[in-house]
Amino acid sequence: MQVFLGETPVSRWSVGPWLADSATDWPVRERQCLSWLPAQGAQAGRVLTACLLPPETKSFAGGAGRDERRLAWQHAQRTLGGEIERACYGNNLKSIALCPMHKRVDPDAILEGILLRGRGFTEFRADDLPTTLEHVIVADPRKGLAAQVQRTTTVCDSVNFARDLADLPSNVGTPAELVRRVRLRLRGTGVKSRVVEQPELEKLGMGLLCAVGQGSVHAPKLLQLEVAAKRKNAPTIVLIGKGVTHDTGGYNLKTNGSIADMSYDKCGAMAVIGAIDALARLGSPANVVALLPFVENAVDAAAYKPGDIIRGMDGTTVFVDNTDAEGRLTLADALVYARRFSPDAVIDIATLTGAANTSLGEAFSPLFASDAGVRDALVAAGHAVDEPLWPMPIHGSHRASLEHHRAHLVNTAGTDGSLCTAAAFLRHFVDFPWAHIDMAGKGHRYAEYGYLGRGATGYGVRLLHDAVHRLATR
Ligand code: BES
Ligand code: ZN
Ligand code: ZN
Repeated sequence: MQVFLGETPVSRWSVGPWLADSATDWPVRERQCLSWLPAQGAQAGRVLTACLLPPETKSFAGGAGRDERRLAWQHAQRTLGGEIERACYGNNLKSIALCPMHKRVDPDAILEGILLRGRGFTEFRADDLPTTLEHVIVADPRKGLAAQVQRTTTVCDSVNFARDLADLPSNVGTPAELVRRVRLRLRGTGVKSRVVEQPELEKLGMGLLCAVGQGSVHAPKLLQLEVAAKRKNAPTIVLIGKGVTHDTGGYNLKTNGSIADMSYDKCGAMAVIGAIDALARLGSPANVVALLPFVENAVDAAAYKPGDIIRGMDGTTVFVDNTDAEGRLTLADALVYARRFSPDAVIDIATLTGAANTSLGEAFSPLFASDAGVRDALVAAGHAVDEPLWPMPIHGSHRASLEHHRAHLVNTAGTDGSLCTAAAFLRHFVDFPWAHIDMAGKGHRYAEYGYLGRGATGYGVRLLHDAVHRLATR
């Protein structure tokens, strides 16, 4: 899909008597309504009118909220973009012009909905056409829109690239294959990449990451990507994404029927990769390092077992209570590795605990932060991109439940507060300003989901891209 800025091919008066007065007095009583109208004298053959009324919302409860109305309005506009794309798909349209008729309408948010909904995963089904649209003209004379449209188009392309990787099943999306595809995509963008292979991971002492991968025929790999800032004296931000290419649970085999979904356990890494891709293409305001530990948690005679005691890169010993709590082990060694970059901020993002989705539901992801500035930047970014975050606590009681008499830490602490104890485990390895996003449940959808459709959502790409900009300019 190509996006252009252009002249409006319709005016308010060319679409029949309905729009004769003003765009604000449309005779529509529905909250949201799409209808095709014949165009009178316009260049377009027909006109799809869309009416969007500001959503009715109460303010957030709980104290950590920003403006819920703004968030709901952003969401409604992107959703409308997705519906416009579907309406065009249903009519087999190749070209459309987008003509917002009210200053509160943000053509950019609508465009984002179109670009994200018009994506399909065709690698194993070439006939499953993602969209019919080839050209979108954004017909709006607003100042600065050209640059914004350019940014949005690029970022959405990065999101869709991340979704294509995330949708790979684990028999194809192995650590080696993911590394190969990421490097291919980033060729020519100026991103430096380095792969730390298993022998070097062992030499570095990354015993936690290696233990998770020791039952798999696919060796673990740590992919390191670096984007340099456009300006001098820019901060250094490290982004870490959980890249478990498949999570069977290991000896604590998953029993609730969700094993088949667990090729999406790499979606944290995909969020980071998409963000890096966008930063590289659009120019980064910070020096950004991505750390992507790719590993498969498989069942095998050689796999790590409940009861094992393993040692991490910083010397911390961990009693493995449950092999299904592999994400925190994987991330722990990556967090310790991050120290070598003397980061101003480190953000990790991971499909870490089922409890993340159980506690906050489909819209919000839990956020943990050791630094108020990093927290505020992420919360603001979440609102701006319609991927809202909600701050959660790590308390001494969470940390205390991870005590073990034979090791420094145990990797699980029962179900009580399991969202927070997972974060407390990670914090043990942190000695820099840090935030952790638990995106479990956000990485993919089975059913149609608004402007994201089905399959991988690309969650976190727009969030991290936006957050890096906020962190670099604070
Ligand atoms: N990858 C899972 C978390 C997950 C669950 C992601 C559902 C997406 C959807 C993670 O590795 C895991 O298994 N977590 C366990 C931890 C438990 C053993 C302490 C969980 O949350 O049940
Ligand atoms: Zn697991
Ligand atoms: Zn997992």
